[in-house]
Amino acid sequence: MQVLVIGGGGREHALAWKIAQSISVKKVFVAQGNVGTASEDKIENLPLTDFCDLCDFAVSQQIDFTVVGPEAQLADGIVDKFRSVGLKIWGPTKYCAQLESSKDFAKQFMNEYNIPTAKYQTFIDAINAKKYIKQNSMPIVIKADGLAAGKGVLVAYNETEAVAFIDEIFHSNKFGNAGSKVVIEEFLDGVEASFIVMIDGENILAMATSQDHKRLLDNDKGPNTGGMGAYSPAPIIDAKIHEYVMQKIIQPVIDGMNSRGHKYTGFLYAGLMISPNGEVNTLEFNCRFGDPETQPIMLRMESDFAQLIKSGLEHKLDQVTVKWSNDFAVGVILASSGYPHNPCVGDYIAGLDAVNSDIKIFHSGTAIKDDKLVSNGGRVLCVTARGIDIQHARLNVYNAVSQIKFDGMQYRIDIGQTI
Ligand code: AMP
Ligand code: GLY
Repeated sequence: MQVLVIGGGGREHALAWKIAQSISVKKVFVAQGNVGTASEDKIENLPLTDFCDLCDFAVSQQIDFTVVGPEAQLADGIVDKFRSVGLKIWGPTKYCAQLESSKDFAKQFMNEYNIPTAKYQTFIDAINAKKYIKQNSMPIVIKADGLAAGKGVLVAYNETEAVAFIDEIFHSNKFGNAGSKVVIEEFLDGVEASFIVMIDGENILAMATSQDHKRLLDNDKGPNTGGMGAYSPAPIIDAKIHEYVMQKIIQPVIDGMNSRGHKYTGFLYAGLMISPNGEVNTLEFNCRFGDPETQPIMLRMESDFAQLIKSGLEHKLDQVTVKWSNDFAVGVILASSGYPHNPCVGDYIAGLDAVNSDIKIFHSGTAIKDDKLVSNGGRVLCVTARGIDIQHARLNVYNAVSQIKFDGMQYRIDIGQTI
């Protein structure tokens, strides 16, 4: 088979790397890919972004199927476009992707289908949003409606910062169109986990559980980021919670979409908050694999990923199972200085060659300058390792991290420490 992967971050490096391991896969093209994907066996980067160009390529190269990594392309309707010319593509349609591309859509959907989530209200102007903030107790959570790369959410601990964020959204236009509406919701306390599944329109195949660390600094301090590291599995999701999430959160997405005349296909990611007394709520839906959750999850997958996706495209997920290593895996993001607000780029990265071969380094924001590897984005690398338990996985990953250096490199030292 020949497979096309859309995207160019650490997630897509991990997805393409795993798909390329299938004996049934001859070649994986990644559009646009990155320095990491360019260095992998059987993987080739493709300098295309336009949907029509990508469709033409998929037709002319007889691509067997396409897998979409990032949310932006899903929200822009890449799945609808590929399907309209008869191409097989793994992901949700533009309609279904609204579960991620509009927080207001997602909250309305969750309320309509009784999916547990925080109480909320949506606002289209600053005056009413501020009035609501003043009427409610702190902390409170404010979310720009549209896509904002994980940075459109503020957990406000006092009224001053809540009101300032509303001003940034409505008056300074911080998130552009993505901030034309805001969702303001009740603060939920607890432990977060990422629950990712494959859905073929009817059947669900659960991936391994994971936990992401979204704040920039150790002990969950500092601003929200796209994610500073992740580990898999997340033991907080025991068998009982797993069943509850499948029945009360994932299944209603399939049923709700069906009742609206839409089939949900592709990956679905439920961001969960599990309270100290075991109550489970949905913080958000993403219509794709998580970044950086993908990196440790792919390291633990023992099944043929290309065959699983093929089964999904054939609506046969009820006929397959997926096998995971019993090991834990931990992925630590190395970010550039200034991330998440003003990342510096162009710093030379040293030490990758010194890292043990059983460590996997996934690239996101890197480039080649004068034949040398340099930083080229906010999140630069995801160093990923396995171990027989979380402590060993952490030891292995941080040994590797200590070999790698670039100016201003930031990373958290507590990834996976919370369990
Ligand atoms: P979201 O993009 O909606 O998942 O929000 C990003 C992050 O903000 C989440 O991963 C949580 O850490 C935090 N967050 C979002 N909603 C809430 C909430 N209702 N209560 C507490 N924290 C939240
Ligand atoms: N790591 C969080 C996300 O991918 O949205």
